[in-house]
Amino acid sequence: MKTPFTLSLAAGLVAGVLAAPTLAADNLAGFHNDMGGCQNCHSDANHPTDDNLTFENEQCQSCHGDLAEVAESEQNVEHSPHLSHLPGEPACTSCHSGHEKSVVYCDSCHSFEYDMPFGGKWERQEPSIDALVKANSDREKALKAAPRATTDIVVIGSGGAGLSAAVAAHDKGAKVIVLEKEPLVGGNTKLAAGGMNAAMTQQQKAKGIEDSLALMTEDTMKGGRNINDPALVEVLVGHSAASVDWLTGLGADLNDVGRMGGASVNRTHRPTGGAGVGAHVVQVLYDNANQRDIDIRFNSRAVEIIKDEAGQVKGVLVNGAHTGYYWIKAEAVVVATGGFGRNNDRVSELDPKLKGFAATNHPGATGDGLDVAKNAGAAMQDLEYIQAHPTLSVAGGVMVTEAVRGNGAILVNRDGKRFVNEITTRDKASAAILEQEGKTAFLIFDDSVRHSLKKIERYIELGVVPTNASLKALGEAQGIDGAELEKTVARYNEFVASGQDADFARPNLPRSLNQGSFYAIEVTPAVHHTMGGVKIDNQSEVLGDDGKVIKGMFAAGEVSGGVHGANRLGGNAISDIVTFGRLAGENAAKFVKQ
Ligand code: FAD
Ligand code: SIN
Repeated sequence: MKTPFTLSLAAGLVAGVLAAPTLAADNLAGFHNDMGGCQNCHSDANHPTDDNLTFENEQCQSCHGDLAEVAESEQNVEHSPHLSHLPGEPACTSCHSGHEKSVVYCDSCHSFEYDMPFGGKWERQEPSIDALVKANSDREKALKAAPRATTDIVVIGSGGAGLSAAVAAHDKGAKVIVLEKEPLVGGNTKLAAGGMNAAMTQQQKAKGIEDSLALMTEDTMKGGRNINDPALVEVLVGHSAASVDWLTGLGADLNDVGRMGGASVNRTHRPTGGAGVGAHVVQVLYDNANQRDIDIRFNSRAVEIIKDEAGQVKGVLVNGAHTGYYWIKAEAVVVATGGFGRNNDRVSELDPKLKGFAATNHPGATGDGLDVAKNAGAAMQDLEYIQAHPTLSVAGGVMVTEAVRGNGAILVNRDGKRFVNEITTRDKASAAILEQEGKTAFLIFDDSVRHSLKKIERYIELGVVPTNASLKALGEAQGIDGAELEKTVARYNEFVASGQDADFARPNLPRSLNQGSFYAIEVTPAVHHTMGGVKIDNQSEVLGDDGKVIKGMFAAGEVSGGVHGANRLGGNAISDIVTFGRLAGENAAKFVKQ
């Protein structure tokens, strides 16, 4: 993980010097050293076994129990850090670092007050890719040395695109290594909430939903302001149902079908009851990768794609958080590093309006892949199109899924009035919220919406959802005109009854807001998705500035551009990453065989 230890080590490597491990009274290493020395944690005091810290984590667990056992002992703790919603099995060292202050990984999104042994506050400073590839003796030495591993394909990134590529490539007979710079699996994918768009699926059919490829194409192009690459949209839409089938074949449950912004019909697939789609999909893909014995290396940052004189991929240079620079020999690489929403310097350089904005993204969404691919000759497209998600919870710093609106919530301002069609595309919804007083708005819903979507329980558990049986009292407690709010909801309920929103032409009016208690979440827009990226063709091959395919180089997911045009529709990214991830994996395997 990028604990401070990791970071100081990486910084030391840039300077060509390995940072000396510290054994201080205020760190875990010093504490364990006092209990019997380095062998308490390490098999060899100077060299961690691998970047996953496999041995070290086993040592933690042999004394303290595994994550589930520790969580069991925290049943009564509010926000138990070990009862994590993250997929995979986060290793102890993801949060508990040895030689520097420990930091709670959850705080990369939330802000909890944990009394953590030897704990510090979350901060992030990682050297840029450019700094890591600038001439330095460790890099040169690693490149001259024999490769530390040999495989057919290196997949960079363990999000949905990377894991889909890895599983698909493996199933076509290729040997795969996955590199992940974070200590945890899943990237932004593990945070995905509302669902995965697909047209003409068995799930839609079972619910009597009429959809068509033409309609999904039209919605996607319209949402993207018609600058999407039509050839890529054709792949996205044409393979969407097959990608749902592929995932369900691997064990996923995508039986709930709801609506997200900009869609003409219900086509957003998610687990039964409306649980978040991302953690589930990552868990399914991760389990499948493990069942196939795919080598997944955490804390392992890809910094350079190495090519031979003919310009063909011959491997990847890695900067392991604990083992330093080394290279992996491979004939093909799939760049699946995700977007750069969490890198506000990069974001605001491209779109100055977004300077200082919060982000919904995980901490690894910094845009490494763009630099790695560009340095290897890849062309870029549409980088200036960066999307804000309309509803980040002001109190909790977490994104509140569009599915809450899709399932019936309305948006009101401090005057208690609606001001937009709640399920318009998110560029329009975000712009409308930014025009309201305080640049925030309130999501208002009732118990019927709450019970329609399991994901809402997560926000309630986080304590960011004020509630009251009286709408007026709820509004007043939040600084909203309560009497006006009552009138707004009554008028909205009339629209639901008549099936027509006379004020904002909202196309879906799934339920009246009149059951049980009412809820209000204050929300504001935050940087969410980066539409542009590496230029690819409809086979997920990377194109160079000359428009020609770079042999052996594939890209998939949020790192690539062209699929979503100027503005992505909610639910289209999960579809994108699974479809293009599979395609990249299969085509990389085919390439390697040729
Ligand atoms: P990621 O999942 O981000 O994975 C990329 C991985 O690459 C990361 O783990 C990263 O650490 C790693 N990496 C980066 N650089 C390197 C490097 N140099 N070396 C090694 N590893 C590296 N979309 C939907 O369609 N539906 C939704 O419901 C939805 N909800 C969302 C909710 C949230 C809060 C967010 C942030 C996004 C949501 N999205 C949703 C968007 C969607 O989740 C992402 O666009 C998509 O998951 C990106 O997948 P990916 O595999 O391309 O990248
Ligand atoms: C959300 O659930 O609101 C996010 C969906 C997306 O980004 O597609």
